[in-house]
Amino acid sequence: MKRLFATALMAAATMLSGPSMAQGNYPNKPVTILVPAAAGGPSDTVARLVAEAMRVDLGQQVLIENVGGAGGSLGAGRVAKANPDGYTLLLYHIGVATFGPLYPDLPYKPGEAFDSVGLVTDVPMTLVGRKDLAAADVTALFTWLKGEGKGATFGTAGVGAVSDLCGRLLTDAAGIELTVVPYKGTGPAMNDLVGGQIDLMCDQTTNTANQIKAGEIKPYAVTTKERIAILPQVPTLAETSVKDFEISAWHAIWAPKGTPEAIRQKLAASLQKALKDPKVIERFAALGTAPVSADMATPAALDKRFQSELARWGKLLANASTK
Ligand code: MLT
Repeated sequence: MKRLFATALMAAATMLSGPSMAQGNYPNKPVTILVPAAAGGPSDTVARLVAEAMRVDLGQQVLIENVGGAGGSLGAGRVAKANPDGYTLLLYHIGVATFGPLYPDLPYKPGEAFDSVGLVTDVPMTLVGRKDLAAADVTALFTWLKGEGKGATFGTAGVGAVSDLCGRLLTDAAGIELTVVPYKGTGPAMNDLVGGQIDLMCDQTTNTANQIKAGEIKPYAVTTKERIAILPQVPTLAETSVKDFEISAWHAIWAPKGTPEAIRQKLAASLQKALKDPKVIERFAALGTAPVSADMATPAALDKRFQSELARWGKLLANASTK
């Protein structure tokens, strides 16, 4: 009888210290958000702003780890293989929906390796050049790229990065040729554009707006349907010969597959609060973007967006070259 009682007590204690207790206490140590691109770039900027606000809500440090390379597919792979306990997360963008067709030998399937936490923001992109490029506007730039400037250098964060995706779409739409120069993120690529070592980039306003305003780089066009408030003088690509051109970089937070629902909901609630933080809203606005609404910063909204983007890019990039 005594033994039975002791066994029952032990079973109860095990249940309390098992997964449900761990989830109830979550988080009880620092959470790491892995950004699969170099520090100082656009994904890093978004992640650090959100992490700081989530830290306040979660009551634990939220650390950023930058693992750049292969367009973000390397770092995302680290998260795909991480323990699904809510302590390792991925913050990246539209690129995650393009890794499948661009890297057929990837050791994980992006559509199956992650559980959604929520969408974060949707960032416009800009076609920008080194400040001493002679072309005065985007029409002159395309003319130059079809003649003397054929094969101009174009900095990207590698195959799978949204900067690379923009370049691919642009070369097709405008009938131009570019020589891609890959970096571990567009943070370092921007340093080289400012320094005049490369000619062009297509990158998010979170990385270009300040440099444009400081006159360090030349803005040619924005990639959204409408002009954007912080750069009203810059035309849309749709105003030029590439009529239907449109791309932006939606960002999201994912967890490794198998992360408990309760933890993801807690993270989503924290993300929603972070995105309402006036400091986050103000910093995003200064960089040309805005947080998504609370109903989009949810696992369900990200699931929907991710699935439709996987299908869209799966078709569009089915025959893409990975060079
Ligand atoms: C990209 O091109 O995908 C991003 O700019 C990567 C980054 O954050 O550096």
